[in-house]
Amino acid sequence: MRRIAVVPGSFDPVTRGHLDVIERAAGLFDELHVLVVHNPGKTALLPISQRVSLLQRSILDAGLPGNIVVASWGMGLLVDYCMEVGAGVLIKGIRSQVDVAYETPMAIVNRNLAAVETIFLLPDPANAHVSSSLVRQVAALGGDITPYVPPAVAAFLQKTRV
Ligand code: PNS
Repeated sequence: MRRIAVVPGSFDPVTRGHLDVIERAAGLFDELHVLVVHNPGKTALLPISQRVSLLQRSILDAGLPGNIVVASWGMGLLVDYCMEVGAGVLIKGIRSQVDVAYETPMAIVNRNLAAVETIFLLPDPANAHVSSSLVRQVAALGGDITPYVPPAVAAFLQKTRV
C-alpha cells in the first residue's frame, strides 16, 4: 500500500522553513502532496495560483525528490482532499510551543472528522523564527527577505514589490 501524506498550509509565500519540512516529509512517505489551502482567518498577499507556482519552482530549484505533488484546495475541508487522494496523514512543522497550541485543535478535529492523523515534524532550528507573515511584512517595508525564502520567491517579491 502506498503511504501518502499531505503538507497543508497557506504558503503565502513558501519559506525556507516550509521547504525544510517538505523535504523531511518527502523522505518519510511514498507520495507527498503539498497543498495550498485558503485560510479564511488570514488576509492573503498572493493569489493561490501564484503560491502554487512559486512552490513548484522552489521545489524544483532545491532539487527535492520527485514524489512531491503540489496542488491547491478551494473552500472545502482539508480532510476531503485527503480522502480524494487516499492520504491518511497530515504533516505540520512545529517551530515552538505557539505552533503546538495552534495546531493541536486542528489535528484533533481532522482526526474526528475523517480519522486523518497529524504528524508534527521539528524543522531545522535555524528556521525557527521564519514565518510567511514576517516575510510579507519585511517585503512590504522594503527589507531583505533573501535569508528567509527560496530564491524564486525573493526574485518574485522583489520584482513585483508586493
Ligand atoms: O499555513 P496556515 O495558514 O497555518 O494553514 C492553515 C490551514 C490552511 C492548513 C487550515 O486553515 C486548514 O486546514 N484549512 C482548511 C479548512 C478545514 O479543513 N478546517 C477544519 C479543520 S481545522
